[in-house]
Amino acid sequence: MAGNNGVFRFDGRKFVVTGAARGIGYAIARLVAASGGAVAVLDLEGANPEAAASELRREVENAEILTEICDVSSYDQVRAARDALEARWGRADTLINNAGIAYNAPAEEMSVEEWDRMLKINLSGVFYCSQVFGAPMLQERSGCIVSIASMSGLIVNRPQPQVAYNVAKAGVVMLTKSLAAEWAPRGVRVNAVAPGYISTSLTRAWVGTDAMRDYWLGGTPLGRMGTPEEIAYAVAFLASSGASFVTGETLVADGGYTLW
Ligand SMILES: NC(=O)c1ccc[n+]([C@@H]2O[C@H](COP(=O)([O-])OP(=O)(O)OC[C@H]3O[C@@H](n4cnc5c(N)ncnc54)[C@H](O)[C@@H]3O)[C@@H](O)[C@H]2O)c1
Repeated sequence: MAGNNGVFRFDGRKFVVTGAARGIGYAIARLVAASGGAVAVLDLEGANPEAAASELRREVENAEILTEICDVSSYDQVRAARDALEARWGRADTLINNAGIAYNAPAEEMSVEEWDRMLKINLSGVFYCSQVFGAPMLQERSGCIVSIASMSGLIVNRPQPQVAYNVAKAGVVMLTKSLAAEWAPRGVRVNAVAPGYISTSLTRAWVGTDAMRDYWLGGTPLGRMGTPEEIAYAVAFLASSGASFVTGETLVADGGYTLW
């Protein structure tokens, strides 16, 4: 076999990326577009997905970018976004569940509202999108889902107390396995990426603090934070035909953090 036979190209593919207006989601959208795929950017109205789409078109020549306003924690909004996209674009063959929030609070102080909100966005949102965008994939017997979990779904991070985030991300890891097992015979692969600490607005407040130096960087064998682009490459692998025999997997991309 010569070269990679174009398995890492996405020409003719249609990706839905949730939470793609910034951060890791934006980097995924840009890599997909630069690799020939069309991208639908789904995000909250306040995140201004239209501005992100303009930036993507500026950064990637001939990029095919659509946008839909969608709060992934609303099943109705997810269904409405899929229906609107299908009318404009046809069926999406790939879903990237990236949208998510972070929230720190000691377990004994966390309010029920914050607990519910975290689970609704970071776990239920992944299920809603997978079910809604997965349905036409199952019908066509072809499709692919990649969710952004976290190393926090595998270990308990320090020093920040984030029980709800950890539980939601552990749920994403098991959701990935469960959907993969159910849908493998029907042509749909389901995988996840578990990032370590990545430089985005989610982690910005910690930059330069002693806690970050001592725990985050000190606990990472590679000795630095990752970039959104480094997560996008892991996602692109799982979404590519190069991963055609991979399903139910959570690919850890954490600079080695979970080794120690
Ligand atoms: N940054 C990290 O260190 C890190 C580490 C592990 C996992 N992750 C995960 O990566 C994903 C992306 O995080 P990021 O660091 O790029 O954060 P970010 O805050 O920069 O971007 C998150 C995006 O999701 C959108 N979003 C939030 N709630 C939404 C909702 N209800 N519906 C639709 N969109 C919504 C936001 O508007 C934003 O555009 C998240 O799932 C996060 O948990 C991040």
